[in-house]
Amino acid sequence: MIIASETLKGQRITLQKAVKSFEMAQRHNQEVKKSLAELSPWLGWATQDYTIEDSYEYLQGCEQEWEKGIGFNYMILDENKNFMGMISALNVKEVDKKLEIGYWISSPFVGKGYMQEAVKLIEKEFFGLGINRIVIHTDVLNKKSANVPQKLGYVLEGIQRQSLWNKKEQRYRDINTFSKLRSEYEQNL
Ligand SMILES: CC(C)(COP(=O)(O)OP(=O)(O)OC[C@H]1O[C@@H](n2cnc3c(N)ncnc32)[C@H](O)[C@@H]1OP(=O)(O)O)[C@@H](O)C(=O)NCCC(=O)NCCS
Repeated sequence: MIIASETLKGQRITLQKAVKSFEMAQRHNQEVKKSLAELSPWLGWATQDYTIEDSYEYLQGCEQEWEKGIGFNYMILDENKNFMGMISALNVKEVDKKLEIGYWISSPFVGKGYMQEAVKLIEKEFFGLGINRIVIHTDVLNKKSANVPQKLGYVLEGIQRQSLWNKKEQRYRDINTFSKLRSEYEQNL
């Protein structure tokens, strides 16, 4: 089973293993609520009805995924330990040595290069642990999200047509699949 570091330190941010506590659930919920306008078009769970209990349950799930080695969910913290958002290494497949990255950042922190920094920290940790392939899925309409893998040299493998049902808009969404291989990562070290 993959044993990942609980703390990944970057220049401006730190990624810290997400753990459940009432205080963390409050902070998580506060940032989600603050950012609904930017989150809700892309993340189905981000609605006005999302409660602190939902945040707590989510964090509980994060802990369970970590224990099983199938998902590594990190809180993104700034130098003052303010909670900024989440980045996760998800759907970890040990045999195939692959995983997916999912992310969101609270609106006040968008447009400052923080997510690219966070993705680089995940790449360093997990390619370092033997992962061979990292995938990032983005809605084709979500330009800010696609910008992250594009800027970091991921290859656009294709578009999954009508892959996700968007409840809010009552229509299917097309999804980009971006990937980076360990060989490509190592070439650019
Ligand atoms: C998508 C999302 C994660 C992007 O986060 P972000 O932190 O703004 O993304 P980036 O790290 O790419 O930063 C973007 C810009 O910061 C700017 N920037 C400002 N200061 C910077 C610095 N010191 N260093 C680097 N970039 C900086 C850059 O112009 C960069 O854009 P560029 O690469 O085109 O030049 C964020 O908009 C979000 O959470 N959206 C809602 C949820 C969502 O869509 N999640 C993804 C679902 S697939």
